Amino acid sequence: MVKDASPVLAVVGAGNMGSGIAQKMATEGFDVVLVDVDDEKVARGVGIIDRTLKEAVERGIMRPDRVAAIRDRIHGTSTFGELADAELVVEAVFEDRALKRDVFTRLESVCRPDTILATNTSSYLVSDIASAVKTPGRVLGLHYFFHPAKNRLVEVVAGKTTAKDVFRRAWALQEQLGKIPIASADASGFIVNRFFVVWLMEAIRMLAERVASAITIDEIAKKTFGVGMGPFELMDVSGVPIALHASTTIGDAYGAMYGPPPMLKQQVESGRMWPLGGTVDPTADRVVSERLMSGVFTAAKALVDEGVGTIEDVDIGARVGLRWRLGPFEMMNRRGGSHPIRLVKTSIENGVATITVNRPDAMNALNEAVAAQLTQAFHDAERDPGVTGIVIAGSGRSFVAGADIRFFIRNIERNDIAQTEAFTERLQTLFVEIQNCRKPVVARVHGLALGGGVELALACDYIVATPNATLGFPETGIGIYPGLGGTQRTTRRIGTGLAKWLVLTGDVIGAADALSIGLIDAVAPREELDAAIATLAAGGPSKERKPPAPPAAFQKLAAFFDGNGVETIRAGRADTGGDERLDRAMTAVAGKAPIALTLAASLIDDGARVSLEDGLRMELSHVREIFATKDALTGLLSIGKARPVFEGA
Ligand SMILES: NC(=O)c1ccc[n+]([C@@H]2O[C@H](COP(=O)([O-])OP(=O)(O)OC[C@H]3O[C@@H](n4cnc5c(N)ncnc54)[C@H](O)[C@@H]3O)[C@@H](O)[C@H]2O)c1
Repeated sequence: MVKDASPVLAVVGAGNMGSGIAQKMATEGFDVVLVDVDDEKVARGVGIIDRTLKEAVERGIMRPDRVAAIRDRIHGTSTFGELADAELVVEAVFEDRALKRDVFTRLESVCRPDTILATNTSSYLVSDIASAVKTPGRVLGLHYFFHPAKNRLVEVVAGKTTAKDVFRRAWALQEQLGKIPIASADASGFIVNRFFVVWLMEAIRMLAERVASAITIDEIAKKTFGVGMGPFELMDVSGVPIALHASTTIGDAYGAMYGPPPMLKQQVESGRMWPLGGTVDPTADRVVSERLMSGVFTAAKALVDEGVGTIEDVDIGARVGLRWRLGPFEMMNRRGGSHPIRLVKTSIENGVATITVNRPDAMNALNEAVAAQLTQAFHDAERDPGVTGIVIAGSGRSFVAGADIRFFIRNIERNDIAQTEAFTERLQTLFVEIQNCRKPVVARVHGLALGGGVELALACDYIVATPNATLGFPETGIGIYPGLGGTQRTTRRIGTGLAKWLVLTGDVIGAADALSIGLIDAVAPREELDAAIATLAAGGPSKERKPPAPPAAFQKLAAFFDGNGVETIRAGRADTGGDERLDRAMTAVAGKAPIALTLAASLIDDGARVSLEDGLRMELSHVREIFATKDALTGLLSIGKARPVFEGA
């Protein structure tokens, strides 16, 4: 959640998209000004938000008081002048070029000079809209997807004249909004609609050619792409005319494969829904799936070749925006293709290499591929004589939310825990290399860091976090213990007592508290984060750190965990003196996996008495043992479900 001083955001056009965008902004804690032409239109837009929020309450997703707080942050108005102080204005009026250009001219005259002006246009070029104003540097595209309060994808589009800093600020705001941004060139259809429209049009062409019925094509499409709705049902729901409009503009730019077949035009003229009756013909499976894939793959490859988007962004766009199980390039690779998918990307600026884990829809979880690419990227940066400092970051809203649990589960089920051990060892080695690197390495924790993510950060020389960052070790709650230095480096920063508190309770700690106990080195608001990091990465103050004296409440926790054995605490028999926080900590420990607790506690205590190297070796030496417990499997399988009950076996 964003803190009090967050900037005001604004949306112009309170229709289907605009109201949803405003709702999302308010949900994430921003004050929002929502503008439409008159009070009636404003009220209609606010009404859309009210209905969506009411639904969320009815479905138990949100509590009524939260909804009230969200609504309080939305201010509807028909007065453009109220946009004056906005940090960002998103335009979402009708898809009409002259209207949009006019709206931008008005925005330019009322907004502060540094307000970012964004268009949510689907079919015009951002540069074309931007050319209407005298300050086109502050104009860019933010292309959201329906429903914009629920669908997390946003295409961030730099026009010809968009200033770099504007792009960066807009991108950061999207991450703060919990969006998953991908970068698209200013080209017709941007990234996602470019291949999505081919998926739709190829379906219509097959229907027209009587290759298969609509229901057959829908069912095969659902199965092939792992998606909830086929092309025909989706067009019926989202509007057949919208499909015609999109395919017409993209077809005009790129040719017949993207353009509307005559049958689509007839369908729009008839005003009817697609004929989805009848039964599915299983014999059409192969031809339908091949044609759909072939169209999508061709479009995806073309847009990457043209530099409109990267392979990774195409795949993220498909998974997040369209909710396909896999992206087009992942699908191609499963079918024998060899497209390099970069899960880790590096950018170098002023001698600082920023290495970003780029799996935003998996909260950048560490798996084998990420580990290998992270290692490679780190080695490259370390060896590059032009690089003087290194930053490790995550994309999207989180830093790194731990290791990939599915990989652990698979290894247990296949009786191949050696794989998990080898993976742990490889990452331990990388983390030691990071720690020993002669160039300063800074962890940029701009959101959630859990388990392996905290351990990665702890291996860096500095940890800089945003005020909303949270850190924690959930491992003992899922039957395992932190194996990537969490039981060793944590102690070396905050002592055994607080290390045990964090690891044995699984409590998450906010940035301010983490700073007060010395778990991290600095907290900087989002706007100042990169500057703060650049200073440290450029050599900054010395690496010698003197841990602060923790606040009294944390000293109590430390003394409690140092003064009582883990068994006593787990059994609820330690004397808390009635201290509420200690009581809570004791209760938290009681719910964790017993074997994991015992191992973690002794690794922390024993590790404090030996060198880091020996401590890490001890930590690694119990990996097989812990992953072979029943509780590990129970815990790992429980993620996303009810809290597990551990047997201590
Ligand atoms: N619907 C989608 O799935 C989708 C997806 C991505 C992008 N888009 C784009 O988003 C934009 C909005 O689409 P929508 O579906 O929300 O349209 P909509 O018709 O639901 O809403 C448009 C709103 O803009 C208001 N408006 C018109 N002129 C205005 C002005 N001068 N000042 C302020 N408000 C004005 C209208 O009163 C209306 O409330 C379009 O550019 C569209 O291409 C739509």
